[in-house]
Amino acid sequence: MKKVLLVNGSPRRNGNTAAALEIMEKELLERGLETVWFQLDGKPVRGCIACGRCASEHRCAFTDDQCNELIEKLLAADGVVVGTPVYFAGPNGALCALLDRAFYAAANFGQLLAGKPAAAIATCWRAGATPSIDRINKYFTFSQMPVVSSDYWNGYLGAQDKFGTGVLKTLANNMAKMLEA
Ligand SMILES: Cc1cc2nc3c(=O)[nH]c(=O)nc-3n(C[C@H](O)[C@H](O)[C@H](O)COP(=O)(O)O)c2cc1C
Repeated sequence: MKKVLLVNGSPRRNGNTAAALEIMEKELLERGLETVWFQLDGKPVRGCIACGRCASEHRCAFTDDQCNELIEKLLAADGVVVGTPVYFAGPNGALCALLDRAFYAAANFGQLLAGKPAAAIATCWRAGATPSIDRINKYFTFSQMPVVSSDYWNGYLGAQDKFGTGVLKTLANNMAKMLEA
C-alpha cells in the first residue's frame, strides 16, 4: 500500500494546519492510501550550519531535534504533503529550518527524494498563503519531486472555509491519482 507523509509544520497539534491535513487524510484513506504523520514538536530547532557532514550519510549531524526523524519519514514515503501555518506571509521558521537540513541531506546530496509526488498547503488568518506555498514548493522542485496541483492555490482559512476545503479534497484526489499512475 502506498504511503503519504503528512507534515504538520505547526507546533499546534490541533490547529488549522492539522485540520487541513485531516481533510486531505480522509480523502487519501478513502482512495486506499496509507498515511503517516510528522508533527513538529515545538522544541528548539537548529538551522543548517553547512558543515556538509550529511553528504555521505544523508542524515544531519545534529541529533538533538527532529531533523533525522523527518528524513527517515521522507525516505519511507511514496508521496509528501507539507502543511504550514503562515507566519509573516511565509512558512513557519522552525519548519523551514528543518526542511533546509532534511532536503540538503536527502536531496542536495544524492537526490534521494526524486519522483515522489509532493504538495504544499498553507493555513492563514488572512494573507500570505501563496508565498508560503511557493517557498515550500522550492524544496520539491529542487529535488525532482513532481508538484501536485489542485483547482486553486492550496490555502485554507479554517473550518468556515468551504471553498478551501474543496481545494484540499481535489488536491488529495490528484495526489492519489498520481500515486496510482
Ligand atoms: C507569528 C505569527 C505570525 C502570523 N502571521 C500571519 C500572516 O502573515 N498572515 C495571516 O493571515 N495569518 C498569520 N498568522 C496566523 C496564522 O497563520 C493562522 O492562525 C494559522 O491558521 C495558524 O495555524 P495553526 O493553527 O495550524 O498553528 C500568524 C500567526 C503567528 C503566530
